[in-house]
Amino acid sequence: VKKLHKRHAREGRPVARAAVLGAGTMGGGIAFTSALRGVPVRMKDIAQPALDLGLAEADKQLARQVKSGRLQPEKAQAVRASITAQLDEAGFGELDCVIEAIVENLEVKRRVLAALEGSTRADTVIASNTSSLRIDDIAQPLARPENFVGMHFFNPVPVMPLVEVIRGSRTSPQAVSTAVAYAAAMGKVPIVVQDGPGFLVNRILTPYVNAFVQLVADGADFEQVDRAMEAFGWPMGPAYLQDVVGMDVGAHVFDVIAAGYPERIRPVERNAIRALVATGRFGQKTGGGFYDYQ
Ligand code: CAA
Ligand code: NAD
Repeated sequence: VKKLHKRHAREGRPVARAAVLGAGTMGGGIAFTSALRGVPVRMKDIAQPALDLGLAEADKQLARQVKSGRLQPEKAQAVRASITAQLDEAGFGELDCVIEAIVENLEVKRRVLAALEGSTRADTVIASNTSSLRIDDIAQPLARPENFVGMHFFNPVPVMPLVEVIRGSRTSPQAVSTAVAYAAAMGKVPIVVQDGPGFLVNRILTPYVNAFVQLVADGADFEQVDRAMEAFGWPMGPAYLQDVVGMDVGAHVFDVIAAGYPERIRPVERNAIRALVATGRFGQKTGGGFYDYQ
């Protein structure tokens, strides 16, 4: 693996300056992780409260590092200063890589990424943190699809090692190498996977979550299911996991994967996750989902 990473580091372009689009659960975590590893990040969102949340997440993560003795307070201040927040794309012409982490909606991603190409250099690698949408589908309106690649991080970003790097049919080998090398520089374990709805991990995770909602529809108590899966040895049960991921995100991912593999996934139409989405209980980010976090 180390050899492979070295090859990608040789063949990719080094990322010295980066940006994330979307300061939410994932964008905030990616920005923090990149800055911690020495790559300054511009964080862009469409609303100031969202940027404030992203910066608050960085502060929380830095406090966690300082408290555990992993980071000196002066270093923490320097890391914090290397994360800047903005509502426009000023300065995007100096970036080596932009990671998009906005809503899991094909039309919105296409529109935002096509516009982004106008603010970035011809050689800037643009990566999407999409959970499930095909890279080729998102790339369809792009002028420079060779620079576009998937970089799928996992939640919570600071502690989850895996990054799926997704090669679209028009992605250049150099863009793949840049994404692999940048993920490795962030301390992650990148793997290159083929394009297709859900890539690798979410093709496994989605049927599992569907089985969970089926169990609840059949009358199981979600807390008991969580306790059972924890005792089974998994780090968290499926209900708590949905609270961490975000019910809205989970529902979007489910729809994309169910549409991608209709012969393999039979959706449970009236399910607990959709009921929570309808009431605005999206999970930890809104203060409540299956559980309360107030
Ligand atoms: N942010 C940063 N660090 C965190 C954290 C967070 N939100 N939560 C926990 N940690 C850190 C703790 O500080 C601790 O670090 P140290 O040991 O260095 O002190 C370490 O993680 C372990 O924490 P805990 O002992 O408190 O809790 P834990 O043993 O349950 O581990 C966990 C936490 C690593 C998150 C673990 O519960 C886990 O692996 N959960 C599964 C998460 C998962 O499956 N994520 C994937 C979601 S799906 C997805 O992301 C894809 C998609 O497209 C939707
Ligand atoms: P989120 O709802 O927490 O955050 C999304 C952010 O994007 C919000 O702050 C929103 O204001 C912002 N945004 C929306 N439109 C924008 C635009 N045009 N420009 C800039 N910012 C914009 O969502 P999230 O959970 O961080 O998910 C983001 C992406 O990451 C999705 O594609 C999702 O599928 C993927 N993902 C999520 C998880 C997870 O566990 N939550 C894991 C891996 C991948």
